[in-house]
Amino acid sequence: MYKTLIRPLLFAFDPEAVHYFSFSSIKLLNKVPGFSSLSRQLFKKNNPALKRNLFGLQFDNPVGMAAGFDKDAKAYKEFTNLGFGFIEIGTLTPEPQDGNPKKRLFRLQKDSAIVNRMGFNNGGVDAAVERLKQNPKLGHPNHVLIGGNIGKNKGTPNKDAVNDYIICFEKLFDHVDYFAVNVSSPNTPGLRELQDRKPLSHILQTLQDLNNAKENRKPILLKIAPDLTDDQLLDIIAIVEDTKIDGVIATNTTISREGLQSKESLRKEAGGLSGAPLTNRATDVIAFLHQKSKGAFPIIGAGGIMTAQDAIDKIKAGASLVQLYTGFVYEGPALIKKINEEIIGLNR
Ligand code: FNR
Repeated sequence: MYKTLIRPLLFAFDPEAVHYFSFSSIKLLNKVPGFSSLSRQLFKKNNPALKRNLFGLQFDNPVGMAAGFDKDAKAYKEFTNLGFGFIEIGTLTPEPQDGNPKKRLFRLQKDSAIVNRMGFNNGGVDAAVERLKQNPKLGHPNHVLIGGNIGKNKGTPNKDAVNDYIICFEKLFDHVDYFAVNVSSPNTPGLRELQDRKPLSHILQTLQDLNNAKENRKPILLKIAPDLTDDQLLDIIAIVEDTKIDGVIATNTTISREGLQSKESLRKEAGGLSGAPLTNRATDVIAFLHQKSKGAFPIIGAGGIMTAQDAIDKIKAGASLVQLYTGFVYEGPALIKKINEEIIGLNR
């Protein structure tokens, strides 16, 4: 129904307007008595073969919502009713910020892709914390597993970036289940330079020291770009092992525009490309990290999961969990269910 009825309607309008409209609709529908349980019955798979125990956390299923969709933690409960096993909120920054001027989100339908240059538009970490307080505590049957994806404000120079990560880390600490340190968005000028060995080690070690001083430490993952070279990926492995962080999320959006079919004006839009053109590169990055590290740390696989098979390919390449953004926009919640069914099938 999503692809034949809902999607053609939604895709007739401006992508960012549709994003907010879909968001409000999902929230509103969940207020209708009986809707949330109907939605869970339709989309949520409950099967022991889907459960994952990772970083000391119990995931009901391994399919998560990637960062950027519910940046401000406004609808994490409603999105789990659509079948997701976990929701990564953010990227959050210490201060609220508007992001880049509109228009900044583009559908490349011929390529089953999106280009975005949102630029970390978000309401700031404090507002998100207030909403996350509504999430029942870990261990409660209605607790939603939340990843807190953190970044820096646009105006913060790279030399001070670590302070922004510290602020977000401390404020979110009691309200998220894991952290994703985002140094890989192409839409904050200079951010990806933080993926270089020295600044990255500094940020991760600082967060890890704070983490280790806590009574109950939280898993810290690093989210990386798909555009890193093999040497840079080897550096990432070394840094993960040195700082003993808990894992890697591979990958964010790409700056590559290789092999696109859409018209030139769309191909030329600046920003990060996601969806089908990213599928193979993201899987290759996962495979490289998994093989070269000899499976030393868990990987959350993201990037161009548009079919159940794409998710299986990432799992076979070494991903322990997967995340979707663009596939969810193009295929709707049925994709989450299909992936979970396929994973159950693998265990038969
Ligand atoms: C993103 N993504 C993203 N990632 C992140 O770490 N922080 C963010 O704020 C955002 N924002 C964002 C906005 C939009 C509009 C898109 C399309 C994507 C990246 C996202 O989480 C994911 O890593 C990539 O999109 C690749 O996965 P898909 O979309 O191909 O499934």
